[in-house]
Amino acid sequence: MITDPRVLAVLDELYERERHIDWADYAWHPDPHRHTETGFSLSPEQGDQLYLLARHGRASNVVEFATSLGFATIYLAAAVRDAGGGTVRTAELVPEKAERARANVERAGLGEYVEFLVGDARQTLTGVPDGVDLALIDGWAPDVSLEVLRVLEPRLRSGALVYNENLDESFIDHVRGEGNGYRSLTLLSGSEYKPKGELALRL
Ligand SMILES: C[S@@+](CC[C@H](N)C(=O)[O-])C[C@H]1O[C@@H](n2cnc3c(N)ncnc32)[C@H](O)[C@@H]1O
Repeated sequence: MITDPRVLAVLDELYERERHIDWADYAWHPDPHRHTETGFSLSPEQGDQLYLLARHGRASNVVEFATSLGFATIYLAAAVRDAGGGTVRTAELVPEKAERARANVERAGLGEYVEFLVGDARQTLTGVPDGVDLALIDGWAPDVSLEVLRVLEPRLRSGALVYNENLDESFIDHVRGEGNGYRSLTLLSGSEYKPKGELALRL
């Protein structure tokens, strides 16, 4: 899917590090500031799917909630670059994570395609320009995901895609709700790590 060796080298390194996390022993804590070194990223298969969707749609106005260490940001920025250019605006609450992601994106050679918004996405994403082509909603708590979708909703163009990685119930109820202006389906990724996500089309 992605063939640029510089991009692939950074993704390989990030996934290799994440693969060594022993999730059975992982000390979960609900405060995002307690997980500055953990990506909780999309699977590589989901990354490829997003790359393909963004590239096919020639997405140039892309939004991500949230950045974490930049795994999905890299897939999205590569697609934007390879489709002709544009910007991925990516929101992250934890400044240390945003800085790590910035370094990863720079190393992948994609810095000019990414704008980092540091702070609570429910505030920082209010400044996103109209005409969003594709949004990734890959957050923390289900309620925040729906709140972020509501912030983005007036900025989504007709035909925009919104992908929710965590299958958040409130997100799915909203995009499947009659009269809310979406068509939606669950997309299988074939990954054991993260097998599915919800893909919604804005009408
Ligand atoms: C599942 S991870 C994102 C993974 C990323 N999309 C990737 O593929 O690598 C969720 C991230 O949401 C961030 N987060 C949680 N609440 C937030 C908020 N209100 N605003 C912005 N970021 C938030 C966390 O710090 C964490 O880094």
